[in-house]
Amino acid sequence: MLAGRRIVLGVTGGIAAYKAAYLARRLVEAGAEVRSILTEAGSEFLGPQTLAAITGNPPIGSYFGEPDVSPHTNLARWADAIVIAPATTATIARLAGGISNDVLVGTVLAAQVPVVVAPAMHTEMWEHPSTRRNITTLEADGYVIVGPDAGALAGGDSGPGRLVEPEVIVAALDAALTGDLDGWSVVVSAGGTREAIDPVRYIGNRSSGKMGNAIATAAARRGATVTLVTSAAPPDERGIDVIPVESAQEMADAVWTAAKKADVAVMAAAVADFRPRDPGTAKLRRADGAPEIELEPTPDILAGVAAMEPRPFLIGFAAEAGSLDGAIAKATSKGVDLLVGNDVSRAGSGFGTDTNEVTVIEPDGTADSWPVMSKHEVADRLWDRIIEMRRQKGSL
Ligand code: PMT
Repeated sequence: MLAGRRIVLGVTGGIAAYKAAYLARRLVEAGAEVRSILTEAGSEFLGPQTLAAITGNPPIGSYFGEPDVSPHTNLARWADAIVIAPATTATIARLAGGISNDVLVGTVLAAQVPVVVAPAMHTEMWEHPSTRRNITTLEADGYVIVGPDAGALAGGDSGPGRLVEPEVIVAALDAALTGDLDGWSVVVSAGGTREAIDPVRYIGNRSSGKMGNAIATAAARRGATVTLVTSAAPPDERGIDVIPVESAQEMADAVWTAAKKADVAVMAAAVADFRPRDPGTAKLRRADGAPEIELEPTPDILAGVAAMEPRPFLIGFAAEAGSLDGAIAKATSKGVDLLVGNDVSRAGSGFGTDTNEVTVIEPDGTADSWPVMSKHEVADRLWDRIIEMRRQKGSL
């Protein structure tokens, strides 16, 4: 898959820069055309002549003093993908902040191609809150973060922070260019529905849409055709067909239509179970006293998809507070292929947060608890799991 692809290799200033020479060699052997950017600090660890000899092109080190008057924009246009290995804390911070005062970050910002970042640093620097924040930002921005590994580090230290092996970076680059959901049609629901009480007021919930947006974004970035049915603000992402809705009924109509031609349906929305039976056509007046609002059930969207024949591979979510027993019961009774339970009473999990702590449960009750991670990481791991399950079922 790398044959004929044009790859920009960014090398920044860390001891692991020596491995970048081997990475460049592997990329060239795989048939890629490679151009490199060697930062000033990177050149303290790896000679420009080494990269020039391996790739056939001298590395670019600066915006200035190059024959090309605009090296960053021209490289950005040329590239099919960019890989930064090793990526130091400083480069990661500049990428997260969009600080383009070096030609590498400038090239990345000017590019609209997959970017694979392979961090390498001491364990304390990798675990520092600022690095954690910056990595979360990069993931949310769509960068592919590969590694680091745990192992021997410079200066006799050992722990997480070691650059992953070049073969792993090549595989990540390959996957980023391939799109392992190529050809898939996917429908995702997101956000919380709003059930009208009168023209002004509604019954709603705390869903921000972040979980569903992350799932839709990850699917689009991995090559799927995505329909996102949402009551929340959608992500600014190419390749997602957004259907804005408000009520459970509108969401049901849109999801059921899209699900008929979808391979996979992921129902991450928080759908109201009940709605006012007879919403007022005029604003309810305080002077008229507290109203009695009679409720009726909303359509069960998930059940409607589960009953389709044939139906898409179906993933439900379950928001539970405290025990996940309810989620296990839903996994076995709702006709889904997989159920994602989240304990919304935990900090950093559930509604409105950038992170989530989920347990994925199969219909036979087999449960797999994942640690707290960004919603983008949950989304990518979920798609990995769906691919694996569809393969096992013989649907791929
Ligand atoms: O949007 P965020 O702020 O990022 O928050 C994410 C989330 C907490 C909303 C998400 O992770 C989540 O848990 N979504 C499901 C919430 C929910 O409504 O759970 P439930 O247990 O009530 O519903 C179970 C499943 O049935 C869900 O897939 C739901 O979409 C579906 N459902 C529910 C009611 C209904 N009338 N129709 C449905 O299809």
